[in-house]
Amino acid sequence: PVKKLDDGTGETVRVLEVDGYYAPTFDMNQEEDFRSIPNWPLKPDDILICAYPKAGTHWLWEVTSMLVNQSADRMKLIKETSMLEALTGESFSGILSPRVLNTHIPLNLMPMDTLKNRTRIIFVQRNPKDICVSFYNHHSKLVEYEYNGKFENYVNRFLNGLVDYGSWFDYTLGWEKVILDNPDHPFYVLAYEDMKADPVKEIEKLSGFLGLKTSKALAAEIAEKCDFQSMKREKDPLENTADWKGGQPGMYRKGQVGDWKNWFTVAQSEMFDAEFRRRMQGSNFTYRFS
Ligand code: A3P
Repeated sequence: PVKKLDDGTGETVRVLEVDGYYAPTFDMNQEEDFRSIPNWPLKPDDILICAYPKAGTHWLWEVTSMLVNQSADRMKLIKETSMLEALTGESFSGILSPRVLNTHIPLNLMPMDTLKNRTRIIFVQRNPKDICVSFYNHHSKLVEYEYNGKFENYVNRFLNGLVDYGSWFDYTLGWEKVILDNPDHPFYVLAYEDMKADPVKEIEKLSGFLGLKTSKALAAEIAEKCDFQSMKREKDPLENTADWKGGQPGMYRKGQVGDWKNWFTVAQSEMFDAEFRRRMQGSNFTYRFS
């Protein structure tokens, strides 16, 4: 059912609760479709981009699709057209191969074939303070959430996982365990901050993981076509304006590392760091916050 997640301040975020899991309330995303995802068949050449929301899924989807097509031509599609939890079983099977799929859900809710088929997985990471700010803006701008909260309350909401897709900690630690438990599975872990620092180098490495022979010239062209300004200019107009408050698409907001410093107070940052240390103490993942 649709539920309004109250964080105790009276502010709410509207989500679709499916068997205790918080999914977003896409129009098409009825509960039965969501529950059927584990039964969807994967194909041998499928590629899955897995990321917590706001880690850079749109960016990596665009880059990976261009790599697979070996062309820097802009796709006139938004990434939600190949996002598992935004589809029905029927629309999923209609996607043309080679498929670059994407999702924010954890492995146990994904197609059961994923590990058995050795489906290539690109796992995108980003420092959670920038994710928190980005997700706050996402919740504030999209009509479906009916959310009008303050950032000062949002930090706790985020740390407590009272959002669609739940806790960043649970999601991230869950994937870390899956990656450790399946050393032979083709996983590629990539950081938003590294993509920002040297996109051409990261695109060449990603190409290697995908078994493609991409020229340096094409890697550079893809980096340029997928840079923040260029994607904002060309992809925001493909968004459905009705989804956005004021009819203003805001999927491409700022695209920087360290914007959290403009949002967090010192006290909030220290509180966040303490919770981060507590939850991530057993993790080997590292993050760059600036
Ligand atoms: P900000 O809100 O910090 O700007 P996702 O695609 O996983 O939903 O992540 C969205 C975040 O990635 C947003 O972050 C968005 O602006 C940023 N982003 C989208 N395209 C980008 C690009 N080409 N380069 C850098 N950042 C990008």
